[in-house]
Amino acid sequence: MTDTAAPTLTVAVIGAGGKMGTRVSDNLATSDYNALYSENSAAGQQAIKDLGREVTPTDQAVPQADVVILAVPDTVLGVVSEAVVPQLKPGAILLTLDPAAAYAGLLAQRDDVHYAVAHPCHPSVFSERTTPEEWADTFGGIAAPQEVVAAFETDDEDLRARAEAVISTIYAPVIAVHWVTVKQLAVLEPTLVETIACMIGEFLHEALEETVNTVGVPREAARAILYGHTWIALTNGLRGSNPFSDACHIAMGYGRESIIKEDWKKIFDDSELDAVIAKMLKIDAVRR
Ligand SMILES: NC(=O)c1ccc[n+]([C@@H]2O[C@H](COP(=O)([O-])OP(=O)(O)OC[C@H]3O[C@@H](n4cnc5c(N)ncnc54)[C@H](O)[C@@H]3O)[C@@H](O)[C@H]2O)c1
Repeated sequence: MTDTAAPTLTVAVIGAGGKMGTRVSDNLATSDYNALYSENSAAGQQAIKDLGREVTPTDQAVPQADVVILAVPDTVLGVVSEAVVPQLKPGAILLTLDPAAAYAGLLAQRDDVHYAVAHPCHPSVFSERTTPEEWADTFGGIAAPQEVVAAFETDDEDLRARAEAVISTIYAPVIAVHWVTVKQLAVLEPTLVETIACMIGEFLHEALEETVNTVGVPREAARAILYGHTWIALTNGLRGSNPFSDACHIAMGYGRESIIKEDWKKIFDDSELDAVIAKMLKIDAVRR
């Protein structure tokens, strides 16, 4: 009888004691993958041990791994990749968790290594959460289902399936992985979701504080109306659930004129994307 069972793949997490490293390791630890955890800081190594896991030195983990996840800060991804890439097995997949370094051309290159990037979408504001665990899992990766956007410029469907299986494990529970290019991923994150969505989230917080602290409206009243209206603004604005009232449209127009700059769409220009990514990576310019 032929043994058709796929061999167990080895996945190494570099930076396994950090925020993302811990999250992805938690999911790998309960998967069928043979997981190896590497970390260079004493605090990170202790955090791995406190979770009952063994620390494997990076130079021992990398040569064994079929997939290496670089969960280190984006600002050091270039230098870490310089050390890791030469030690990879031919045919291994190098998976990063944010597109900035790949987009900026900072990752050490080898022709026989496959480069993938996968970013979690986080559970949607519109997802139907039914359990306390799903409600508590605001980030995703524990109980609330989320989608993932990923880039992997290969025509090899087996390799893509291998990458997708690992990505679906580290960010589980995953509804779907959407494949885009590295550049498209960089337009999604940072431009669409950090430059715009996260900025608006903080802006709402600032507006609430101004309403409470400067105008003197009781916090509970201001918070209640803001939270409810944030929901209706999102569901009307993004899904057309209800029409905004005529008066609301006038107030929205006033808000747009007062707050939004006319040329705001320039943030989608390539030159702006290059500049913001260089700033995030603390480098002079992207290398593209
Ligand atoms: N934090 C988030 O919310 C989030 C979300 C999505 C993607 N990401 C991406 O995940 C990656 C990691 O970010 P993070 O926020 O988890 O960073 P972090 O700072 O929390 O953790 C990074 C870990 O890497 C370790 N490290 C640094 N250099 C190392 C080396 N040479 N060898 C081994 N370990 C090393 C550090 O000690 C630290 O424990 C980044 O690419 C980031 O963009 C982060």
